[in-house]
Amino acid sequence: MRKNNPIILGIESSCDETSAAVLKGFEVSSHVIYSQIIHKKYGGVVPELASREHLKVIPGIVEKAISDSNVTLDKLDGIAVTYGPGLMGALLVGLNFAKGLALSLNKPFIAVNHIESHLYAPMLEYPDLKPPFLCLLVSGGHTMLIDVQDIKKFNILGETLDDAAGESFDKVARLLKIGYPGGPIIDKMSQNGDDSYVKFPRAYLGKDSLDFSFSGLKTSVLNYVNNNPITGEKMVNNVVASFQAAVVDVLCEKILRAVKKTKHKNVVLAGGVAANSKLRERMEIISKEENMNLYYPPLEYCTDNAAMVGATGVLYYKNKWFSDLNINAVPNLKLISYK
Ligand code: KG4
Ligand code: ZN
Repeated sequence: MRKNNPIILGIESSCDETSAAVLKGFEVSSHVIYSQIIHKKYGGVVPELASREHLKVIPGIVEKAISDSNVTLDKLDGIAVTYGPGLMGALLVGLNFAKGLALSLNKPFIAVNHIESHLYAPMLEYPDLKPPFLCLLVSGGHTMLIDVQDIKKFNILGETLDDAAGESFDKVARLLKIGYPGGPIIDKMSQNGDDSYVKFPRAYLGKDSLDFSFSGLKTSVLNYVNNNPITGEKMVNNVVASFQAAVVDVLCEKILRAVKKTKHKNVVLAGGVAANSKLRERMEIISKEENMNLYYPPLEYCTDNAAMVGATGVLYYKNKWFSDLNINAVPNLKLISYK
């Protein structure tokens, strides 16, 4: 029997977050997340270490999500897990753990596309939000403008031609040696910086383009730093604020172009970079000026988390989109429409 508010266990392990959540419909009953700190000293995620860490902590994370939710395993209606895209070894840990649980409990198994789960994360805050909407998905691996016509029905309007937006934050932070992941650090430092200090280039790529390019911007920051030795904290703040302003300008301009093209009234920001305070602030102003409704997930559901996987599980459950237990992890999985 299908339920309107199924109880779903979501599991996420595609990169460097091990996370589990129990949802009753879009209501989050519990959410446990462990961000692997071991990668910080390498300035980026080391795949081998990531899978080992996932393997170590996943039983405890799932157990805690179940006990925090006060839901017993037999009450679950389904188990949802990310099967791609992501790091092969990391994906396999979550996927196999979820398969084992689904098999032993004899529960429906729901394999979830990580990109898609980012798109639905705002529904955790706005359960009445339904497609159609325009989504800017900006994370460490993706920068896409997506016309979300229905659940699992998408039209990709534009993508990055090189670095993802989050990747450019991480790379700039690495070259300035200010830590990893770069996004939250640059966001914070920029609050004390002058964003007109350096006029970095904005890659708008022709007047109608909905694609993105951030590698030139990263190179400009590198060139600037090579030619203008950084002297003191104030200067770093100014440089990162100027870099962030260039990224935010491009993201906002592309959203505006896509809104004009698609005539969508509802605009969703998703993915790790949607946590950026400047992007949110600018988009709040633009959405008022342009009469758009703006949605973005609470901070904890912007970056990788299992609540968004559970939310996708809820939507799939309602459509009876269950998966075979022989499905494999797909590291380069794309956003695929159902029909
Ligand atoms: O969605 P996510 O957790 O993982 C991927 O699916 O990639 O996104 C991680 C990315 C990282 O590149 C991180 O630097 C960026 O999101 N990020 C931010 C902020 N918080 C995280 N970028 C800009 N501003 C932030 N506040
Ligand atoms: Zn992600």
